[in-house]
Amino acid sequence: MFERLEPVATDSILTLMAAFRADPDPHKVDLGIGVYRDERGTTPVLKAVRRAESTLLAEQTTKTYVGPEGDAGFNQALTRLVLGATHPALTAGRVRTIQAPGGCGALRLGAELIRAAAPDAIVHVSTPTWANHVPLLSGAGLQLERYPYFDPMTGGVQFEAMMAALERLPAQAVVLLHASCHNPTGADLSPAQWREVLALVKRRGVLPFIDMAYQGLGDGVDEDALAVRLFCAELPEVLCAVSCSKNFGIYRERTGALHLCSATPKAADAGLSHLVRLGRGLWSMPPDHGAAIVRGILTDASLLELWTDEVTAMRQRIGRLRREVVQHLKRHCPQRDFSFIARQRGMFSFFGINTEQVRALRERHHVYMTDDSRMNVAGLREENLEYFARAVADVLGGTARG
Ligand code: LMR
Repeated sequence: MFERLEPVATDSILTLMAAFRADPDPHKVDLGIGVYRDERGTTPVLKAVRRAESTLLAEQTTKTYVGPEGDAGFNQALTRLVLGATHPALTAGRVRTIQAPGGCGALRLGAELIRAAAPDAIVHVSTPTWANHVPLLSGAGLQLERYPYFDPMTGGVQFEAMMAALERLPAQAVVLLHASCHNPTGADLSPAQWREVLALVKRRGVLPFIDMAYQGLGDGVDEDALAVRLFCAELPEVLCAVSCSKNFGIYRERTGALHLCSATPKAADAGLSHLVRLGRGLWSMPPDHGAAIVRGILTDASLLELWTDEVTAMRQRIGRLRREVVQHLKRHCPQRDFSFIARQRGMFSFFGINTEQVRALRERHHVYMTDDSRMNVAGLREENLEYFARAVADVLGGTARG
């Protein structure tokens, strides 16, 4: 049967990750896959995670199944982290949470729920969006369409064009929004713009499906949740897929959750019953280890404080790198304005160079970013900013000045 299968290309982000790992050059710079790196270039296990994990290892007495909804303590604690403990949708009993294998699992589960409820629904995604949104959502059988989002001239959001496109959506359309730290561009909506989007989707009866993979890495843990909190307070229905990979640094533990906010508690229960059934058909029950760690952190005041400090340090370091790389680029590439990098948030920036220049960076200087010139700013280090800026000057044909 499988002899007839032709080889297919893997996701460009994963291909790049493999190419970087295989490159023996000591100066190589990984701005590809979205993982946080510290000043030594490593992706550390957070102290809060280590502590929660050692308690877990010491105290866990069984490895029996947890259940299809996952760890109830994790689900509750994560819901409070996302919405805040006293959110009106929680008080009204309108929110249900199901654990999923990573943000990807949550996105897929949300897509499956949409497909079960409205098989012809179209999901509108930003131009551009994270490469894996497409297979995750269309794999559930949903059709995707695009709305304008990124403005390469300013490095910000083409807000008017975005709103004009959303204004044309029919009721029952789905719009996929990035809560913060837009992947791949780093261009986020302002609080005022989120309020305008909220008013529009409310008026048009559009379902927001929010992807929140970077809570705490943009402007702050509460600030990055603004859209989810506003939307759940004001709208009858919201889906929100959450990843704990980046903000807890537990990438390989595949930890995430899907929040379903429904019009009534009864509708929320019905929705959850579908999610349980759909999850059973996809992965039966979610993995436990990462969720148990996150529960341990979020339910222990001192670990929560430690994690908050660690996520703050990651966010501040990314902000500092953004500002510093702009200075280095200004010196070495005075003909180009890269100041937008400092205005963006989260790990990514769309660097704005062409594919040939991206490849030249890789081949001549061992600097890896995806072909569309998405760079993971968190992959830079103080000690290679100069090397990076000189490499960019070289591929842009500028003069490298010392
Ligand atoms: C990324 O965008 O690089 C990360 O979200 C990792 C991934 O799985 O693509």
